Amino acid sequence: MQTVTSLEMLRTALADLRRDGARIALVPTMGALHEGHLALVRAARARCDHVVASIFVNPRQFGPSEDFDAYPRQLAEDAALLAAEGTALLWAPDVKAMYPDGFATTVSVAGVSEGLCGAARPGHFDGVATVVLKLFNQVAPDMAFFGEKDFQQLAVIRAMARDLDLTRPHVDAIIGVPTVREADGLAMSSRNRYLTPAQRAAAAALPRAMAAAVSAIEGGAAVAGALARLEAELVAAGFARIDYASLTDAATLAPLEALGARPARLLVAARIGTTRLIDNLPVGAARG
Ligand code: PAF
Repeated sequence: MQTVTSLEMLRTALADLRRDGARIALVPTMGALHEGHLALVRAARARCDHVVASIFVNPRQFGPSEDFDAYPRQLAEDAALLAAEGTALLWAPDVKAMYPDGFATTVSVAGVSEGLCGAARPGHFDGVATVVLKLFNQVAPDMAFFGEKDFQQLAVIRAMARDLDLTRPHVDAIIGVPTVREADGLAMSSRNRYLTPAQRAAAAALPRAMAAAVSAIEGGAAVAGALARLEAELVAAGFARIDYASLTDAATLAPLEALGARPARLLVAARIGTTRLIDNLPVGAARG
């Protein structure tokens, strides 16, 4: 696996990989890799000839009081994990290479960016959309792979691709990959490492309470009551704050008061100690 840190090196390496019409997959990450990221690489390898992974801790998607400085950085360890999975190229720019002096453009996707994590983290999805559009333009992949764990992020990127006509040569297809979970159901996340052992044990209440809410809603329980029970279970387990617990339309992320014929998704963000965890599950017609 080759690691490149400048746009010129990236372009040269990509031209080599693309010889003979090989198909290129992009797996964008912020590093601190875990099994969830490696599942993206495996899905990408299964569908394309070469995988290009990016590692860039994007300052534009962190709020002023968020964990940008503390976010784990472990490039050598991540590079070894990516190489072991057969990644062809690692694009690891620094902040200056991604945002040269004078950089002045922001991509903002209205609607789908605004509620849920968008409301709790103002500007976050503008930062995500801006860097992902740059990555699409830099790498011009045939397919790009994102985890369903960040379900709203995936919806924002899909909306941006649709609105800005990001077909070839920018990116041909955006693929969502199912969330990878620990044995007790907790969704894998680079931020799980912030949890103390006691918080880590309590965090398993999140997927458990969510699965119970999904069963209740699918069994005909009122949505408001099921969400109130979910929140109460999280508080009882030791979660300090629930940012949101919402049943939404799976495509638009508009809140739903009742399950209808269209695919729905349960999305939750909750804080345990100072760590914010997010998770989501399909509901009703969206399952299976
Ligand atoms: O999901 C992530 O790791 C990041 O939000 C992404 C898509 C790499 C953009 O910085």
